[in-house]
Amino acid sequence: MTDRYAVFGNPIAHSKSPRIHAAFAAQTGQTLSYEARLAPLDGFAEAVAAFRGEGGLGANVTVPFKEQAYVLADRLSARAEAAGAVNTLVFSAAEVFGDNTDGVGLVNDLVGNLGLELAGKRILLLGAGGAARGVVLPLLERGPAELFIANRTPEKAVALVARASLPASGKHAGKDAGATGGTRLRAGSFADIAGQYDLVINATAASLAGDLPPLPAGLFAAGALAYDMMYGKDTPFLAFARGEGARCADGLGMLVEQAAAAFSLWRGARPETAAVIAMLRAG
Ligand code: ATR
Repeated sequence: MTDRYAVFGNPIAHSKSPRIHAAFAAQTGQTLSYEARLAPLDGFAEAVAAFRGEGGLGANVTVPFKEQAYVLADRLSARAEAAGAVNTLVFSAAEVFGDNTDGVGLVNDLVGNLGLELAGKRILLLGAGGAARGVVLPLLERGPAELFIANRTPEKAVALVARASLPASGKHAGKDAGATGGTRLRAGSFADIAGQYDLVINATAASLAGDLPPLPAGLFAAGALAYDMMYGKDTPFLAFARGEGARCADGLGMLVEQAAAAFSLWRGARPETAAVIAMLRAG
């Protein structure tokens, strides 16, 4: 019987994951199937249980089920625990193991594909929802000089900083800047953004609505990269960044890199990502 994997989401019809994993399987000479499954909004756990009952060996989880997958897992990786969300499940007879490869996917795209050095850099992370939460620790592990988390609702950014087990700072936390591992970690509102950044990551859902968070002109340092976790279309954030002279990247590389990390976990083989990113860019 062919080893079976799936991605669960709602909606899921336009997921690129089946194409990505089929490409990884072909490239590494592995025989497996990978399908997209629509889970009912109130039936995620049942959909996963049914797939497991059919012999499924693992699954990816996407919007809006990552928090439910975190609850469903019997055991969690440290990075899934830190993210409070799971995007990769591994099924065995004994348990469901939950991992989160989104953060490492972003970092691998930034460092491996886009050639960025994160150590000593100033990073601005926009947003404090699930997408932002998954990437905070992997970014901190690279030793940036500063990570400023700015959100429309600043209290959520402060909570995210607290969750990273580091002292929160900025006017909303009422404390001075915290520093751990040499990184200055701060939280605030968009209005608190000041100075220049080497990397600005848009992890808000604003792009989905065609909105641009209120960002000040001049926030990109010379040679800065603007990264939008969304992919597939030019976003108001990237258009703004381009106008400000920044180098721009969308989240397609992160999508492929998080998939590669999941594939490695399931299959023990590390696929090459560059060719798959190029294939998806070609349409
Ligand atoms: P996800 O899990 O995809 O990150 P989420 O938890 O709903 O989704 O979080 C969405 C993020 O986008 C939040 O940071 C949200 O800001 P709030 O915490 O203030 O709600 C942000 N966001 C959504 N729409 C936005 C907009 N139009 N402008 C700026 N930020 C926006």
